[in-house]
Amino acid sequence: MATPIIATRLVPADEEGIAETARVLRSGGLAAIPTETVYGLACDATDPHAVAKLYAAKGRPSFNPLIAHVPDVEAALRVGQFSPTASALARAFWPGPLTLVVPAIEDATSPLARAGLSSVAIRVPAHPVAQAVLRAADRPIAAPSANRSGHVSPTTAGHVMADLLGAIDLVLDAGPAAVGVESTILDCTGDIPAMLRPGGLAREEIEAVLGHALAVPERVTDDEAPQAPGMLASHYAPSVPVRLMAEQLRAGEALLTFGGQALHGAPPVRTRDLSPEGDLVEAAANLYAYLRELDAPGVSGIAVVGLPAHGLGEAIADRLRRAAAPR
Ligand code: TXA
Ligand code: MG
Repeated sequence: MATPIIATRLVPADEEGIAETARVLRSGGLAAIPTETVYGLACDATDPHAVAKLYAAKGRPSFNPLIAHVPDVEAALRVGQFSPTASALARAFWPGPLTLVVPAIEDATSPLARAGLSSVAIRVPAHPVAQAVLRAADRPIAAPSANRSGHVSPTTAGHVMADLLGAIDLVLDAGPAAVGVESTILDCTGDIPAMLRPGGLAREEIEAVLGHALAVPERVTDDEAPQAPGMLASHYAPSVPVRLMAEQLRAGEALLTFGGQALHGAPPVRTRDLSPEGDLVEAAANLYAYLRELDAPGVSGIAVVGLPAHGLGEAIADRLRRAAAPR
């Protein structure tokens, strides 16, 4: 079914732009907003019509639960039920790139936004513009990454426009996202929190606050097929094949490298270095933009070097594995 074309406005993130974004959200519209991780496609999480429109705009094949965004811990306590452990994590890392899954407070968000689950994913973003929008909207805001389903997550307003022009009301432009990969998601419904998705907050930092290791989840989250355990979806995918841990370049390949590493073999058609200094935080910030830049005409595939596994390396490796998964 074709989605009707609507006029998408690109608005700078000044006082008037933030006020206009809040008006769009409060009247059931769809607005892409900046966060420190990636741009989110926002709507009123209490309005089932707005949530249904959001699923349609993204072209998601199945209803998949959305993260409820709120401006502070106090607002989060009105959306979900926090155990002492969940509270400690919230107070240590919010606002920031962490999402906590906790038992839902039933009427605080639409069941459609939670895909019918009795739990709810909650995040308090640190980006000052996201904070201002959430305060002005004054209700929980559902916001998946603002890409069409199956595409790489957007880290600039331009990326959002490339995917969603004509499908949403507004894009609020605050420049590139600082973190560059999505939030870390922890399931806090059991005794010991489990990591459902590695992301912008490193495992080591969380375990230091807990004083012990995170639990291994029964299944990890998967934006495309939440009902399929163990399936590695080709989410975050460029249009050409991605080859991991490459040691030799093949003819026609572009190179995604790290720390100045060069590869033998054919000369690369294009090269991007995620961080010439070997900094994993910088690498995460550049990951999605560089995948888009290497996914260009004349490139037959993207070869990726091996990266360190610690810190944000875990989230980068997760996204690259998904980008390389068969589709
Ligand atoms: O950084 C981020 O988290 C970005 C920005 C915009 O905040 N948002 C984001 O949303 O990445 P999305 O929809 O692309 O990914 C949310 C993930 C999905 O994999 C979904 O299955 C999972 O969160 N999720 C949501 N609610 C859940 C729940 N109750 N239980 C388990 N997983 C849940
Ligand atoms: Mg996503």
